Amino acid sequence: MGKKRKLKKAMAKREVGDGPVLVVCGGKKCAPREQTRAVIDEARAYAASSVVGVEVVKCLHICEKGPIAATYPKIRFHKRVGPAEADVLVDKLVARARAV
Ligand code: FES
Repeated sequence: MGKKRKLKKAMAKREVGDGPVLVVCGGKKCAPREQTRAVIDEARAYAASSVVGVEVVKCLHICEKGPIAATYPKIRFHKRVGPAEADVLVDKLVARARAV
């Protein structure tokens, strides 16, 4: 099963629907825990007042060059995501949600 199908399956289990979501890998193979935590905290704080949700999954099956994040429902994987990049991804998801 491909990465995108695995992510779609994980999101279906979480019942996030079709709402825009930034999915962050919480695994420890792709990046140190502190880096991942910083991305998750920043994304959650930045997305709090928007329609974008932030979900943390165990692994996005890339496992290198992390932290790894993905946009959902239009799935795009992003490597080496820092807190600033997480904000940019949230902004993109907000813009995409407005365009629909
Ligand atoms: S542990 Fe992060 S992508 Fe697998």
